[in-house]
Amino acid sequence: MINSQNMDNSDDSDLPEDLLVGLANVYKIYRTSEIETVALRGVSLSLFEGEIMGVIGPSGSGKTTLVNIMAGLIKPTAGIVYWSAVGADISRLSDNLITQIRNQFVGIICQISESNLLPQLSVIENVMLQGRIGSRSSSELKKKALELLERVGLKSRRNSRPMVLSMGEKQRVALAAALINDPKIILADEPTGSLDYKNGEELLELIHEINENLGTAFLIVTHSQQVVPHAHRVIEIRDGIKAGQHEEIELDNLDSSRIIIPDDQGRILLPRELVKGLDANTSQFKAILKEGKIVLEPIVTSLSRKSIIFQRNHQEEVVCTICKTVNIGKSILCSNCGSLLRKAGRWST
Ligand SMILES: Nc1ncnc2c1ncn2[C@@H]1O[C@H](COP(=O)(O)OP(=O)(O)OP(=O)(O)O)[C@@H](O)[C@H]1O
Ligand SMILES: [Mg+2]
Repeated sequence: MINSQNMDNSDDSDLPEDLLVGLANVYKIYRTSEIETVALRGVSLSLFEGEIMGVIGPSGSGKTTLVNIMAGLIKPTAGIVYWSAVGADISRLSDNLITQIRNQFVGIICQISESNLLPQLSVIENVMLQGRIGSRSSSELKKKALELLERVGLKSRRNSRPMVLSMGEKQRVALAAALINDPKIILADEPTGSLDYKNGEELLELIHEINENLGTAFLIVTHSQQVVPHAHRVIEIRDGIKAGQHEEIELDNLDSSRIIIPDDQGRILLPRELVKGLDANTSQFKAILKEGKIVLEPIVTSLSRKSIIFQRNHQEEVVCTICKTVNIGKSILCSNCGSLLRKAGRWST
């Protein structure tokens, strides 16, 4: 995890040498005229050279936002986005500068697979497209594109248009295109989302092969269990928070396989079953360290005391100060004249 203080001082000397991208306490708030959405709430994570990281989480949990921020495509509302290619936080750099550096540093496979390839270009032209920004000659670029198409098993389809390719083939071309500038990282947002199991498996095996042979690091967002055996580690995003890490995954019940890692702010997500199993009156705890274990010790809270008083008081007789009627029960208004018997706000917490 990166050290935000050092980042602020632009001194990255104590950062791990193999750190490629590091997020420290990243927030993203989307604002529209009607609504404000907090998509990320203080996420910190590190992607290291040569690793394959899986990212899982329910729809709307902030996965695509995370990818776009790591790719420098959108700016965080707060927090630090470190790129080793710059040796510093990129969140204050201009979009132009980020685009130039991104081209050599990060390859991207988008969640919407149609966005990855231009329909009017052939397969090989699509693969060459992002490489044109660099200084390579056309023949060099073409040679590289053919090599990559061979690697993904689609050299023979180089002159086809994307529309005649299967979904699996399109994603393999997208992978080749993402590799044209020899990036250190590929950020892949649900690359297998539109594929059946067999095509998904082929793509993941290809990613594995490229990772092992070219050393490219991958961050793969997924809704599918299929990615797990191909990833070195899998993190879980939930409600914009890094909820934990998984070694084996029960997709239907992520609570059961989550390894909790307290984040920079000490936040942890408890399994719902555990919380459900608590005594109804136990709603607050003190966290204490006992023999190397964090123990949550229930405490009698002012909240629970108040609610007890609330219940007891409501059984008491209350005489209306206006009409003198004796009221028994829960009502805060006199049953006879409707006057206020007790302030409702007194019981709020
Ligand atoms: N450009 C935007 N403007 C406003 N709100 C946005 C924008 N992009 C995302 N959001 C909101 O931010 C939250 C996180 O969205 P995000 O796309 O990152 O989720 P996700 O985990 O990728 O979901 P999915 O699995 O469905 O792709 C959602 O509530 C979404 O509606
Ligand atoms: Mg998404």
